[in-house]
Amino acid sequence: MDNKNFKSRFGFLMAAVGSAVGVGNLWGFPYKMGANGGFAFLLCYAFCVVIGYVIMTGELAIGRSGGKGVIENYKLTGKRNGWIGVLAALSVLLITGFCCTLTAYCMKYFLANLGTLLNASWGINGGDAAAYWDAFLSNGLEAALLTLLCVVITMVILFKGTSGIEKFCKYAMPLLVLLLLIVIGRSLSLPGSSAGLAFMFKPDWSVFQGTGWITVFARAGGQAFFSLSLGMAIMITYGAYLNKTENIGKNAALICFFDTLVAILAGVAIFPAVFAFGHEPAGGTGLLFVTLQTVFTDMGMIGAFFGCIFYLLAVIAELTSLVSLFEPQIAFINDVAAIKGKTISRTKLVIGVSIFNFATGALVAFDALGKGGLIQPLGFCWMDFFDLFSEGILMPIGALAMTLILGWKLGPKWMEAEMTQGGNTWKSKQFYMVCLKYIAPLFILLVFAGQISNFFGLGWF
Ligand code: PHE
Repeated sequence: MDNKNFKSRFGFLMAAVGSAVGVGNLWGFPYKMGANGGFAFLLCYAFCVVIGYVIMTGELAIGRSGGKGVIENYKLTGKRNGWIGVLAALSVLLITGFCCTLTAYCMKYFLANLGTLLNASWGINGGDAAAYWDAFLSNGLEAALLTLLCVVITMVILFKGTSGIEKFCKYAMPLLVLLLLIVIGRSLSLPGSSAGLAFMFKPDWSVFQGTGWITVFARAGGQAFFSLSLGMAIMITYGAYLNKTENIGKNAALICFFDTLVAILAGVAIFPAVFAFGHEPAGGTGLLFVTLQTVFTDMGMIGAFFGCIFYLLAVIAELTSLVSLFEPQIAFINDVAAIKGKTISRTKLVIGVSIFNFATGALVAFDALGKGGLIQPLGFCWMDFFDLFSEGILMPIGALAMTLILGWKLGPKWMEAEMTQGGNTWKSKQFYMVCLKYIAPLFILLVFAGQISNFFGLGWF
């Protein structure tokens, strides 16, 4: 398999930032920030990103030191550590399918706005956005076919290995930022847009009252970990393709910074427009596919143009995440084959992984967020079920185990050796190790409790 390193730092950064930037930045962060104390939430989030930075640095270090797929990399940190890699691999296997379907939903809305722009019958053409969304959801076959299209695009990017990922992300991510800036320009120039900025940024310190601060930190932490693509096999796999001369700490800091920047910019693009047209703020699919589409429809013909731009940037955000979700699967299957003394061509690996991800994606497409009449595991729709298992359970356990192994077992000497490769210096060693050994594990436990409480509606805090 061509298992070559990323050729440039910029290519690596764009691939990693591309993984981090996804729907979590678009429909998760801005709404959570507005609904949980505005600027006060942002301060909590900044703290969570520092913890996220600690975890990301650890994952990149484990990845680069092993240079293999996630399970083998963990085995290299200790014979009995392979199970952490298995959790991470499982996490990725569960999450990828529904990410493919979400990409397909964004694709559908890009096409719907393009159709309106071209005056074609397949456009949304001023129709009611809520009715359009329901009609689309009830058509599982269409969603499944669009999911297939997204899987095929990802497959094509991945045939060329790291160089394919690098080439795609190098152009896609700057384009995404450009598109985002265009939408921001429009959104901020609408009369009444300042209410949206107030929703996002006005500090509400009362969220910290009583035990409220625990809730806010748990929410902000969950959002930060998911947004930074942590606790899965991703940063460990990308780390394995990072040149030995690269400064891991610096790269991790840049990834965290850009992911947060895009999340804030997404809020500035979305909420001023939502408020300017007098809509209620929302999060999740409702925000992306109903509220925002209503805003674009309200804008008239020019709205179709901005709708195209916005949903195209959402498609790009998701495709760059999809490649980062497929690649770890390819890497660990390749490892398993190598251990058995076999070699599987990259083409075959990419196709095999794609078929699997399409299958779970199609399940989610036909399930239509629980409206498709399929069996509902534990009473959840399939997307939430996969999300609960991966993001809610496997990811925190994996991340916790990683901090404990790195902080307590491998220790500062191991970490220093990896951080200072290629003549790099590591100035924040003491601060880093305190975070890794004590603060990060405790914090992950808090986030874990928050996720479980949230999913099962336990109302713990
Ligand atoms: N980080 C992405 C987001 O913010 C989601 C994602 C999670 C992508 C895990 C890949 C892996 O939306």
